[in-house]
Amino acid sequence: MKKNIILIGFMGVGKGTTARAYADKYKYFNIDTDDLIESKANNKIKNIFLEKGEKYFRELEQDCADWIENSVDTSLISCGGGFYNVKNINALGTVVLLDASYDWIFNRLSTAENAKAKLKKRPLFSEPKKAMKLYKERQVGYKKVADITISVENKDLTTIIKEIHKKTKNKQ
Ligand code: S3P
Repeated sequence: MKKNIILIGFMGVGKGTTARAYADKYKYFNIDTDDLIESKANNKIKNIFLEKGEKYFRELEQDCADWIENSVDTSLISCGGGFYNVKNINALGTVVLLDASYDWIFNRLSTAENAKAKLKKRPLFSEPKKAMKLYKERQVGYKKVADITISVENKDLTTIIKEIHKKTKNKQ
């Protein structure tokens, strides 16, 4: 079993922020699947969606998962919101779902200091009604692949990362 920690969850739930704090405290290398895809495609996520479409983006996510499976261990990996759907997600490490209600996520994103930028870089959040539908559709899929679920709603970052650390220690 790989010793990676794989952070999944809906757009805006705080995977990136949590991953950075975790990596800093527990001295992990932290890699982000969207960053890997952007560097491989030499293009921004929002432009990949615009120019090549979502299906192509999902293929890049699968390529990224295959690379992680073959090449990465003992790292913290924060994933795009749809990455849980790659066929080998559970072979990549311990899958940790960051969970919160849609309203809490929407509120977090829209009241962030750089709210405009946060919403703009996420093409699937351009229409909140569609995003809410997607959120509902994904709940079953997220829970199905998660080894551990952590509720992040109204918890501070220190509590969240401690909880991840405690729960993943027994799994690895
Ligand atoms: C997506 C989430 C995004 C990014 C892409 C698609 C999704 O990542 O991968 O826009 O399908 O939920 P974040 O969850 O980091 O916003």
